[in-house]
Amino acid sequence: MKIVVLGTGGTIAGEGHDPHNALAYTAGQRPVSVLLQGVTLPPGAEVLTEQVAQLDSKDMDHATWQTLLARCRHWLAQDVAGIVITHGTDTLEETAFFLSQTLPADKPVVLTCAMRPATHPQPDGPANLTDALSLVTQPQARGVMVVCAGLAHGAGEVQKVHASRLDAFASASGPWAVRAQDVWHWASNLPLGQVDIDEDAIEKRATACLQTAVWPRVEVVLSHAGATGAVLQAMLQASTPGDHDSDARLGQPLAGLVVAATGHVTIHAALEAALRHALRCGVPVMVTTRCVWSGVTTSPHWLLANTKFESNMDASTEAQLTGLQVSPLSPVKARIDFMLQLMLNAGKV
Ligand code: SIN
Repeated sequence: MKIVVLGTGGTIAGEGHDPHNALAYTAGQRPVSVLLQGVTLPPGAEVLTEQVAQLDSKDMDHATWQTLLARCRHWLAQDVAGIVITHGTDTLEETAFFLSQTLPADKPVVLTCAMRPATHPQPDGPANLTDALSLVTQPQARGVMVVCAGLAHGAGEVQKVHASRLDAFASASGPWAVRAQDVWHWASNLPLGQVDIDEDAIEKRATACLQTAVWPRVEVVLSHAGATGAVLQAMLQASTPGDHDSDARLGQPLAGLVVAATGHVTIHAALEAALRHALRCGVPVMVTTRCVWSGVTTSPHWLLANTKFESNMDASTEAQLTGLQVSPLSPVKARIDFMLQLMLNAGKV
């Protein structure tokens, strides 16, 4: 059985010079082939490695996601049982969500990580890698999952919730599976992985983001005590890239805006006024909550109450016309969902 391990960097590949200082290290140093040395492989497994990137995941970018998506799609079409991806913890949930929206789910793709660098006297990377390889060999495993500290999480809910604990990740409705005494345990009447996948939608999204050279500029704005509309007004200006900045998106107008709102998608009055202006300017808006464990179910009809475009329209019709959506995803995942929608729609024009 072949398993492909793709390296992207992170603390799991980090190296430091002071074993007594867990934070004094540089992420993304050790090749993925070296990370596998000494890791016990599942019985009968043959591992192939490929270094897709070597970065601190705080610097993850769309070009690396495109490459990672292309390499995953290449390998999943071969005779392999599944893929393990080593990744930094900081944006792991974003990469996992992105891949869950763009990869076929008939084989497992398991992202794993570490909170301690490879040079730590007691690194957690080898155990996480062992667990991830083991999860790939479970016959029921399918789709994108995240493994850390003996827990397997789904890509939709998983979030990094601790900055230093070894079990840094959590999911609102709990992990999908737990590894204890070298055995994965999960509710045996349930599938282990993604279900109800719309394969047609997956293919369309993957094609759109592989073919789009510069992804749409979607920004996130946070509603908080003392908020003003200034940040949003600045975002609405199509900025010119400076000499130091080669990001082509900075020359583009804002393509979409995610608002990380309070509670049941309420927004500070000052920010709300700026948001109405953005809607009138034709910028589509996706509202989600900044509450960590609360998927939003309420529609932000209040936002439209004073944003009349046409008379005699109910709020849901107005929402469609004005490009206002509400999302149950976390703000960073809502941003990915929004970019994928915009790329798909651009392809239809
Ligand atoms: C990173 O995200 O690449 C660095 C932090 C980590 O992996 O824990």
